[in-house]
Amino acid sequence: MEKDSVMARKPLNVLVLLGSSREDGNSTRLAFALADGASARGHVVQSLRVPALDIAPCNGCNACLKTATAPCIIPDDMEAVYPLLRAADVLVFATPLHFFSWSTPLKALIDRLYCLAPNRKRNLKGKRSVLLAAAADDRPAVFAGLKSTYRLITDYMGWKPAGEVLVPGVAEEGDIAHAGRALSRAQALGARLA
Ligand SMILES: Cc1cc2nc3c(=O)[nH]c(=O)nc-3n(C[C@H](O)[C@H](O)[C@H](O)COP(=O)(O)O)c2cc1C
Repeated sequence: MEKDSVMARKPLNVLVLLGSSREDGNSTRLAFALADGASARGHVVQSLRVPALDIAPCNGCNACLKTATAPCIIPDDMEAVYPLLRAADVLVFATPLHFFSWSTPLKALIDRLYCLAPNRKRNLKGKRSVLLAAAADDRPAVFAGLKSTYRLITDYMGWKPAGEVLVPGVAEEGDIAHAGRALSRAQALGARLA
């Protein structure tokens, strides 16, 4: 096979934010499938297990509105995450559905993007984003709230949605392996990133 047909035209930095606390969670498996597809196309993928990070909630101090030197003054693991977010071309949000919404650790990280809002000098405008999610309920409508906030967030942040794979009907770790073509859809999505 010609090298060009395997390698992406321009390698992208893909940052995968894993929202599940489960070692082998369904949303994590989706994310790894996407990563496989993206890596096979020559993209550079980095995954972060967000629940393992020390990320405090945004406290609304608004110091980030006043200082030009640091995005956020809270001294925690976001200090290391901010440069990764800014360097990424594609942000992948992989979350278990928790009470019809994001996992708490991932939501805490999203809240901390306040300091990189589109009206700030430093912002994350122009990134591509992907949503991956798993839920126990077998009704696709269970994702309505998550999809709605995701769309509002992408609009607000100035991101271009690059695809989503939302998988209902998976409860236990590993169930996703038997959820139709969910993993191959995620892998294909990773391979399509451009
Ligand atoms: C705290 C908590 C809240 C949950 N809330 C929902 C929910 O609102 N709707 C649903 O269908 N499943 C819900 N679930 C089930 C998970 O979404 C499901 O098990 C999913 O496969 C977990 O993904 P993970 O393996 O990536 O963590 C909940 C699970 C937990 C632990």
